[in-house]
Amino acid sequence: MTSLTFPDCAIPISNRVHWIGAFDPLLRSFDLILKTANGTTYNAYLVRGQQGVAIIDTVKEEFAEEFFKRLESVANYDEITLIVLNHLEPDHTGALPELLKRAPQAYLYISHQAQSMLKGLLKLDEKQLQFKPVTTGDHVDLGDCTLEFFHTPYLHWPDTQCTYLREEKLLFSGDVFGCHFCDARLFNDLVGDFRFSFDYYYAHIMRPFKKYVLDALTLLEPLALDLIAPTHGPVLRDQPRRYLQHYRTLSTPRKEVVDKTLLIFYISAYGNTARMAHAIYQGASTVTGLRVSIFDLQGGEVEPFVDLIEEADGIVLGTPTINGDAVKPIWDLLSSLAVVNLKGKVGAAFGSYGWTGEAVNMIESRLRGLKLRVPVPGLRIKLIPTEEELATCQTFGQQLAETMTQKQAVRELDFSQI
Ligand code: FEO
Repeated sequence: MTSLTFPDCAIPISNRVHWIGAFDPLLRSFDLILKTANGTTYNAYLVRGQQGVAIIDTVKEEFAEEFFKRLESVANYDEITLIVLNHLEPDHTGALPELLKRAPQAYLYISHQAQSMLKGLLKLDEKQLQFKPVTTGDHVDLGDCTLEFFHTPYLHWPDTQCTYLREEKLLFSGDVFGCHFCDARLFNDLVGDFRFSFDYYYAHIMRPFKKYVLDALTLLEPLALDLIAPTHGPVLRDQPRRYLQHYRTLSTPRKEVVDKTLLIFYISAYGNTARMAHAIYQGASTVTGLRVSIFDLQGGEVEPFVDLIEEADGIVLGTPTINGDAVKPIWDLLSSLAVVNLKGKVGAAFGSYGWTGEAVNMIESRLRGLKLRVPVPGLRIKLIPTEEELATCQTFGQQLAETMTQKQAVRELDFSQI
């Protein structure tokens, strides 16, 4: 836990804008899946215009009083004319029901995709809600300043949008460009080194939506930017454009055109599944237009393989059946793929077994669940494969490779990174 004292009033971040969010320094796990060594912040903002006050996002419900205290230090509730919700996940809308009670005159501005979520969240019908769905090109006037909306879906929910305060060159970016990092000094030029947290957050939250990140960057890059105000982590006022460039680098496909690629991963208790793996490797390698690689999972961690799998066209997983199940390294590899878009890739499974051999079917089901195509039925061999069975393995590899190379679309890959 940091020893710095957290300020309990609003923090000015530009002429018209205050940070009115909440610090959560003790959080160690976010949404059950993200580790948060430095806690997090729930950033919310207040914009004061000549013709009204806008609130941009709120905070997690448990931190509502902290949020209201900061809000009250710079505005009265009856001054609030509108509330912008860039994203409706509960860590940003937890305080919304109470805010609407305190400022019932406020009009909500949300994306079109957020409408059904808003109704589900507030459990109010349309007559009880004052909201306006907005998209790119829409704006709302606060007298001497204007909030402009940018439709940036799937960053990282369907509802997500960004809001731009042109007069201050300030982008309220929602979860985009955020990270879980709690530091009382708030601004990126003052807080501790948060680069690891920024990249970890991108890898787990934005990475599955790279195409949408690139679409959003095309919208946001032309904006003049003095400041990016995300919903988590430091406010980015020092060289904010660097963060757009970094997102573009992380989201851009690599640039060398190569053949299709097939990765074979296996683990073997007595060498039988390994023999199958190498026979499959031989069979697949006879097909031109396909680069085949083989990896023994007993040799290391699964994490480094995630990047390879993201770029590959197909994966084959080999596992023995032990106690009616596939073995842990195979499940570890599969569970690490939650951050990768696997749709349309080819998958297959194989393995040696002693009694019942359930593992292959289990892995095939999981591959289908992850949206891979499984065009060639899994291959199971009882105990030690014979020469004839190894020939079947070669045919299995060849069939899979031929299935993959029927469509010869080129793709991009950087061999130097492998
Ligand atoms: Fe920070 Fe997607 O909520």
